[in-house]
Amino acid sequence: MVLVSGKVLLQKAKKGCYAVGAFNTNNLEITTAIVAAAVETNAPVFLQLSSGALKYGGFELAGLAIAFAKKVHVPIAVHLDHGPSFEVARECIGFGFSSVMIDGSALPFDKNVSLTKKVVAAASAKKVSVEAELGQLKGREDEVFSATHTYTDPSAAAKFVRLTKVGSLAVAIGTSHGAYKFKGAPKIDLQRLKEIGKLVDVPIVLHGASSVPNSLVAEANRYGAKLANAKGVPEVQIKKAIKLGVCKVNEDTDLRIAFAAAVRKFLKENPSAYDPREILSPATEAMKSVVMRRIKVLGSEGKV
Ligand code: G3H
Ligand code: 13P
Ligand code: ZN
Repeated sequence: MVLVSGKVLLQKAKKGCYAVGAFNTNNLEITTAIVAAAVETNAPVFLQLSSGALKYGGFELAGLAIAFAKKVHVPIAVHLDHGPSFEVARECIGFGFSSVMIDGSALPFDKNVSLTKKVVAAASAKKVSVEAELGQLKGREDEVFSATHTYTDPSAAAKFVRLTKVGSLAVAIGTSHGAYKFKGAPKIDLQRLKEIGKLVDVPIVLHGASSVPNSLVAEANRYGAKLANAKGVPEVQIKKAIKLGVCKVNEDTDLRIAFAAAVRKFLKENPSAYDPREILSPATEAMKSVVMRRIKVLGSEGKV
């Protein structure tokens, strides 16, 4: 089917009180896994590429995502994740993405507003939806590193949405990217999310939402990975966040761990294998299972 804009997917999710999964891709196997999981569960998804993914795979990788999305019956938005500049966002809009994120979260409020407005203007002409971010997740977001969380201020979020007319807003409520999200007990600031939800009427996006399941980490470690103390966002907290207005949930790290675990296992058990298709097929299956599980947690199964 034709690509669907992020706005269409998210408005429907907001009405139906579920969230759409947004999964990062960097290669053929990840794209195959995400699309196969969406088809098998009859679910809408975002197939998203960061600027790092575009550097790694070129726009050919984006072309592959678009081709996959057009081939299947489930609605898919091909989305730029953490767009670092107006130029990259404009290039993606021109290339045929149906959704882009402009990440001005490291900028002062006014500069974030003006950058986001510029992208919204360029995107709306092509009916492409825009996600922006206010507040910063701890850790690395593309080329930007933040040593601490800068939680999103609810009233600033309302003002930001009003000024920019952005379609969806990513918020910082205690999650972070990668496999080491919490030192102590995992905890996201649901009270803050509730306040944001009261003041902001656009769909809210949760980044850094991988759950980093113990079983997946243990499997990777069993075959030689060193992922001690990895910790993610518990699924019950994600479900609570959806009740408070989160409509798009980003997951990348869980797929990466599943990929690494499956490749390590296969190579350990099949030392004479050297065909990449044989080596990578179990990894595709493992990532597909991760995506299917996430779709069920988000309540988006069957929501086409
Ligand atoms: O936001 C982070 C995503 O996991 C993308 O990561 O910039 O390494 O492609 P990346
Ligand atoms: P994770 O690192 O938790 O998978 O988050 C991915 C993400 O937010 C992509 O934008
Ligand atoms: Zn992110």
